[in-house]
Amino acid sequence: APPFYLDCDTGIDDALALGYMLASPEADLIGIGTVSGNVSAADGARNTLDLLELAGHSGIPVALGAHDPQAGSFGGGAPHVHGRNGVGDVELPASKAELAPETAAELLIRLAHENPGRLRVLAVGPLTNIAEALRLEPELPRLVEDITIMGGAALAPGNITTVAEANIANDPEAAADVFAAEWNVTLVPLDVTMTNVLEESQRQELLSEEHPFPKALGDMLGYYFQFYLNQFGRACSALHDPLAAAIAVGGIQVDTAPVVHVEVDATSGPGRGQTICDMRGRYMGYPEQPGARCRVVLSLAEEFPPHLVDTLRS
Ligand code: BDR
Ligand code: CA
Repeated sequence: APPFYLDCDTGIDDALALGYMLASPEADLIGIGTVSGNVSAADGARNTLDLLELAGHSGIPVALGAHDPQAGSFGGGAPHVHGRNGVGDVELPASKAELAPETAAELLIRLAHENPGRLRVLAVGPLTNIAEALRLEPELPRLVEDITIMGGAALAPGNITTVAEANIANDPEAAADVFAAEWNVTLVPLDVTMTNVLEESQRQELLSEEHPFPKALGDMLGYYFQFYLNQFGRACSALHDPLAAAIAVGGIQVDTAPVVHVEVDATSGPGRGQTICDMRGRYMGYPEQPGARCRVVLSLAEEFPPHLVDTLRS
């Protein structure tokens, strides 16, 4: 299975993505970096170590990444969505494992050099660490196979502002750098993550597991479901990060996924944080765009929630 580096802001759906990567036979997760987003990078790292221990994978290195975005400072995260501790206020048994001695960006660069042309990157938090790695190692786009990013909104509305999605909104400058770099990107935006939601019966399947790891994921999701109930009047949950994981490893087939030009608005106007995807081809069946490198997933060819639950239970 191909080696993967995961960059995350753990986070309830980040925990699901982590669980998916650990369970998938199509991925060999060899390193994880954390970034501030849902919680601080330090709290995200703590959560990640605890989750790895619970899942029986405490040997995977976890490196602390950027606390602050490129411009400004960390705004305190999203405790109303992910709980004060980031994992739905579920108390995970504390891991004794220590953080890797390097930063997240350094870990990514080292793994890319150790696996030239083979390392695959999955980024499900703000893109601060990835942009820093690009600055430190301009050859990174040629060293890695590709990068899959959960973030943005192509034709759909944002979830932080009218146009901006959280991972991009939390560090638009970094995102602009990452989308400007010359690598193959797969973007998994809100268009597809908000339309494939987990239902209560599926959460119950996780809770019914003997193993404490899927059970803990089901518990955390209780908090997420409550947020959706308050916000939208329906107890369910979007599956942003685990869907990006499944698309990255090829565990789920995509349907509409044109390869287009994407730019990030890092100006200070009302468009700040928008992923400007050139979707003009939509009217003509998405003809090829010369030089375009970003595959934007708009819809799936199969149902994701049952596949996620089956994978997490395996
Ligand atoms: C993204 O923002 C975070 O809250 C989630 O973990 C996900 O990565 C969704 O907008
Ligand atoms: Ca995330």
